[in-house]
Amino acid sequence: MNYRNNDPITSPPASEFSQANAAYNHLPPPKLIAGAKAALLAWSVQASRMDQPAGQSEAPAGAALKGAVKAFWNRESCDANQAHSEKFSREYFEQIEQWRYNDQPFIHGFAQFTRYHGKRVLEVGFGAGTDFIQWLRASARVSGIDLTEEALANVSHRVEVYGLPQPDCLQVADAENLPFPSNTFDLGYSWGVLHHTPNTEKALAELVRVVRPGGEIKIMLYNRHGLYAWKMWVKHALLKGRPWKTLRWVLANHVESAGTKGFTDKEVKQMLALLGVTDIRIERFITSNDRVMRRDFPYRLCDMVLASVLALSGNRLGWFRGISARKL
Ligand SMILES: C[S@@+](CC[C@H](N)C(=O)[O-])C[C@H]1O[C@@H](n2cnc3c(N)ncnc32)[C@H](O)[C@@H]1O
Repeated sequence: MNYRNNDPITSPPASEFSQANAAYNHLPPPKLIAGAKAALLAWSVQASRMDQPAGQSEAPAGAALKGAVKAFWNRESCDANQAHSEKFSREYFEQIEQWRYNDQPFIHGFAQFTRYHGKRVLEVGFGAGTDFIQWLRASARVSGIDLTEEALANVSHRVEVYGLPQPDCLQVADAENLPFPSNTFDLGYSWGVLHHTPNTEKALAELVRVVRPGGEIKIMLYNRHGLYAWKMWVKHALLKGRPWKTLRWVLANHVESAGTKGFTDKEVKQMLALLGVTDIRIERFITSNDRVMRRDFPYRLCDMVLASVLALSGNRLGWFRGISARKL
């Protein structure tokens, strides 16, 4: 980007400089202008880096990273921090479920659990199993895998607590090497998982591989250009005096497990283009991550501003992307 204006056509003639100088007298103090320029520059550097290919993370790569991801989610499954009752009790599971579908009511419309009655569904990365039990309630023939023993314990207890039918298969496994034959499932579902695994492209290819031709995939991935990513950047980069750090770096180092990624819509389409799928659909979702949830005055005002920005962007700035496609 060129910030200088040496163009004789657009530079004002000398006679206009006195008028311009008068106008300058009413401008904010130079320090404020310099600060605003620095912020703008940092933003433009960020923006220009955003279209780098999705695979490049600054976090450690390979097996060490996978181990760190596993250790993180083995400490506590997703949303379990929303429950305060005894672990694995009915109340504990209901608190998780209540929080989740309050925060993300759009999951039902996206997943359409009941449409898969009697169908073969695979859920990759079931976590505490909140969506997983919806497949069972809908009488889908569901199998599930997760990287962690903690998730397996959650789901096993959850199935028992509610007296649900046993899943076809439930095991600890890696999304990047699915233990299922090709062309097995009617639906491959994975909510908020594939951006945590080091090789997202491979995990996505695996998901498509195990779905039958004509079957569907439905996944949720984080949006690197979302407001939440920017909020994290302000907190962990700008306010820490390192505005040169990228959104990619912030997500990999400060959002959930190590190496977390976010993807642009273009990157999602590029990944899917290689996998023999059609009918690609991308939905944009807003969650509490995108908002300021405190109720006291200054935060409430901030939240109203954020809500307006999000609405005006047509949810483009939302943190969640629901992506569905059909295998050819
Ligand atoms: C944010 S939680 C989402 C859990 C669940 N889908 C939900 O929506 O509640 C991420 C989950 O992905 C799992 N995960 C991360 N990498 C994985 C991998 N390579 N293979 C299988 N599961 C993985 C984690 O163990 C964790 O349970």
